[in-house]
Amino acid sequence: MSERQQTSANAVEVRNLTKAFGSVTVINSVSFNVKKGKTVTLLGPSGCGKTTTLRCIAGLEEPTSGVIHIGDRLVFDGQAQFELEPEKRNVGMVFQSYAIWPHMTVGENVRFPLDIKKLPQKERRDKVAEILKSVGLGDYVNRPASQLSGGQQQRVALARALVFEPSVVLFDEPLSNLDANLRDHMRHELQELQERIGFTAIYVTHDQREALSLSDEVIVMNGGRIDQVGPPEEIFSYPRSVFTARFLGCSNIFMGTASSVSGNGVVSVCVAPDTHFSGKHHGDQPATGAELAIAIRSNKIRLSAQDDFSDPNLQRFPAVVESRVFFGTYIEYGLCVGSLKLKADCEVGVHYDLGQSIFAAMSQSDCLVVKA
Ligand SMILES: Nc1ncnc2c1ncn2[C@@H]1O[C@H](COP(=O)(O)OP(=O)(O)OP(=O)(O)O)[C@@H](O)[C@H]1O
Ligand SMILES: [Mg+2]
Repeated sequence: MSERQQTSANAVEVRNLTKAFGSVTVINSVSFNVKKGKTVTLLGPSGCGKTTTLRCIAGLEEPTSGVIHIGDRLVFDGQAQFELEPEKRNVGMVFQSYAIWPHMTVGENVRFPLDIKKLPQKERRDKVAEILKSVGLGDYVNRPASQLSGGQQQRVALARALVFEPSVVLFDEPLSNLDANLRDHMRHELQELQERIGFTAIYVTHDQREALSLSDEVIVMNGGRIDQVGPPEEIFSYPRSVFTARFLGCSNIFMGTASSVSGNGVVSVCVAPDTHFSGKHHGDQPATGAELAIAIRSNKIRLSAQDDFSDPNLQRFPAVVESRVFFGTYIEYGLCVGSLKLKADCEVGVHYDLGQSIFAAMSQSDCLVVKA
């Protein structure tokens, strides 16, 4: 059996994809697979190469090198100088700007890809009716697209991307133009549609909530490279690098060196003179003296006016309150622990004065040891 046949459960395979604009390499040897029916998200900051990766898969950008398969088809091979035209790749796309044509009806918008394929008229009508029903717009076929709300336009864009049964749907920040409430609503709706219709998707976002809630697998990108790949729970719970830890919301990150390493995965990291954090590492066991970092989520730090924490296993540090910011559902305290600055989230109603001496505590398992 050939390598391709063995991996035919993949709807998309990207191998060593590299793209340079002039002398600037913006995607650097990126490889990943997307299994049929699954959603993979490219998550990363502005400029890390998410859109360019999607455009290379769609055929809207010519890669510098690499190999891309969509379904059973080779669509790009740099070495063989092979490139399949975008319209032959069977890829659906949904963009941030929905690119809905306002002068057409909802039905005409959704029918457009079928018009291009010149399907029989009845088949076009049936497919449009079916997909509009799936996205909850069954009664909107004759409605002018200009009369739709943002969320409805989003659904029309999705229906248009799905109507020709593409091998994969590429989503480029499709929710970022919507207000916070509608974005939450559409996120749930997308999730529900994905489960019901079971399309394969590559989703691009810089929003960790979107990435974690919509994906089977998250690919964290940094400067054109993949930093970490894994299921959402793994990426969130066990970031391996400072970059991924910070991007997934660990606001306390301290560089240091391993002062001791024990067999059970616990590493003591010296982050300042006389200040050590004991934490868990989840990758290869580091050596004593290795440069590492400790990452701690602000909601994993417990505060108390006295050193009276009920759990005897917590590490505890004297701290001085430096700032207090109210965020509605919690209060974020800024603390000085020796020369370190620490952020800790605290329930509303617990009050510490600025300048007050208190104690901060955290468990070993909440101190994540990551690559420096
Ligand atoms: N046509 C182009 N010519 C030159 N540079 C480009 C071109 N398109 C993109 N780039 C550069 O490539 C890098 C990656 O851009 P890309 O649009 O893929 O980032 P992104 O991750 O989608 O960012 P954002 O979250 O802001 O959309 C950026 O530095 C960008 O300036
Ligand atoms: Mg982009």
